[in-house]
Amino acid sequence: MIKESIVKALSDQANAEYYSAYLYLAMSAYADRAGYKGIANWLFIQAKEEIAHGSHIYGHILERGAVPLFADIKVPETSFNSIKEVFEKVLNHERHVTSLIDKIATLAEEEKDHATYNFIMWYVNEQIEEEATAGDILAKINLTNSHPGLLFSLDAEFGTRVCNDPFAGD
Ligand code: FEO
Repeated sequence: MIKESIVKALSDQANAEYYSAYLYLAMSAYADRAGYKGIANWLFIQAKEEIAHGSHIYGHILERGAVPLFADIKVPETSFNSIKEVFEKVLNHERHVTSLIDKIATLAEEEKDHATYNFIMWYVNEQIEEEATAGDILAKINLTNSHPGLLFSLDAEFGTRVCNDPFAGD
């Protein structure tokens, strides 16, 4: 039987993933209105992936015989000054999410909940990719300081991103 402390921690993480989706939607809306449709597309797809992350946790709690806890989803920041600022905040946010995931892994170890530990390892690995991707994008955006035209190339590149279900086949 899954412990209450684990149900609470996983439910909080599902909420944090849905908040991530909200935050990335707000960023997507900013990029869209600023004329960067490709970057808006990239962020919109990122938001969809975050919803998939949250829903996968929700499904895991149910699969373990418990009921997920529901709570308000925080209202995200909606005002940004530049695309660079957006991706600085994406990177900071993903670092924060990594710290949340690490806490769940530690709790699962302490509670000797091997199923949750095994489950949360997918997220541990995903966070390596999330931070690396955000860092790479930020590095490219920093290049646009000296070559502003590069931002339009980046926008075109990001416009090609399509949504892949990270849990297809599960
Ligand atoms: Fe669900 Fe961007 O981590």
